[in-house]
Amino acid sequence: MTSLKIVPANPHASYVAHKDEIDTAVARVLDSGWYILGQEVEAFEREYAAWNEVAHCMGVANGTDALELSLRACGVGSGDAVFTVSNTAVATVAAVERCGAVPILVDVDPVTFTIDPNCLEDVVNQVVAAPDHYGEAKAIIPVHLYGHPADMPAILAIAQKHNLFVIEDCAQAHGATLNGRKVGTWGDIAAFSLYPTKNLGAFGDAGVICTNNDELAHNVRLIRQYGWEERYISLIPGLNSRLDPIQAAILRVKLQYLDQDNDGRVKWADRYNTLLKETTLSLPIPLTGARHVYHQYILKTAEPAQRDDLRQYLHERGIGTQILYPMPIHQQPAYNGRIPIIRKLDITEKLVNYIMNLPVYPELAGEDIEEVAQHILNWHAGLSS
Ligand SMILES: Cc1ncc(COP(=O)(O)O)c(C=O)c1O
Repeated sequence: MTSLKIVPANPHASYVAHKDEIDTAVARVLDSGWYILGQEVEAFEREYAAWNEVAHCMGVANGTDALELSLRACGVGSGDAVFTVSNTAVATVAAVERCGAVPILVDVDPVTFTIDPNCLEDVVNQVVAAPDHYGEAKAIIPVHLYGHPADMPAILAIAQKHNLFVIEDCAQAHGATLNGRKVGTWGDIAAFSLYPTKNLGAFGDAGVICTNNDELAHNVRLIRQYGWEERYISLIPGLNSRLDPIQAAILRVKLQYLDQDNDGRVKWADRYNTLLKETTLSLPIPLTGARHVYHQYILKTAEPAQRDDLRQYLHERGIGTQILYPMPIHQQPAYNGRIPIIRKLDITEKLVNYIMNLPVYPELAGEDIEEVAQHILNWHAGLSS
């Protein structure tokens, strides 16, 4: 058990909040005798499709698989070039490589932390001009990082110009909107993680794919279960990436509270923004037209040393923080020197030294937010003295 008073993320609190309903849902699956796909998974898929305002929704084993299956459904394969970012969960890049494709990493916007459309356009142009060298340009994976939507209109314009698929990585952004439109409805297909700490989290691994495209939905359904349309007859090579019905039953309960939970995250983020506005910290203010759902509340300190100092200060007072992510993917041992860097990732490499996150989940109390903010204000007062 942790000795922290306020932990950075707390999926157990979301179990406690809805314990009776969740226990009933789990018992229903156990009593049903049906343990693979079936009614519970189909009901969750219907409910999530309605909630995310898409035609099709397919439950899969986790968010990494959701990305891989989305790429495969679009026909991305060996040697193809896929554009994404380096400041994301390693899963985004790992999924590209699992398809045999080549991840081409693009720098990000310093305010939204999401893919910079100007850099993207430049990098896409270079790859399109030299397919023999880089592979055929096939897809873009914008990541709606921390809960803030990427600049989808600009990304779609580049994709249309070069005939690229757009696969949204929505793992951190269930319910985020841009110009009133939900993430996961902009691109060709979208992958969501339902990892326990996500805005919609299972109590184990789970993921879901959304699309309005009938053919892509059909492809995903085949690939997630060995290429079967009819049992035991594989039409195409597939794999096993099925959503567990017990997780589906839990998710059906939690989906009913997702809007309310997102509102809770926004409320706490707004409160931090108010309480900390007189400091030298850079706070996560959403762009006009964007609804940020604060999977993470990320602030930036004025200097890297201050970031480490503030984290230590809070830790000593029982407040847990994290750095997501501490090292860009292209610098990690598994990828360093192996992934082509076409245009320098200056912003990505710089940001990593300044960022940290504060606890922001819906089950926190107003007093928790006040306490975290007060410690930060005390620390900040010490900076100038
Ligand atoms: C941006 C992003 N993409 C993909 C994933 C992968 O999801 P999972 O852990 O469910 O495989 C995650 C979660 O860790 C994520 O945050």
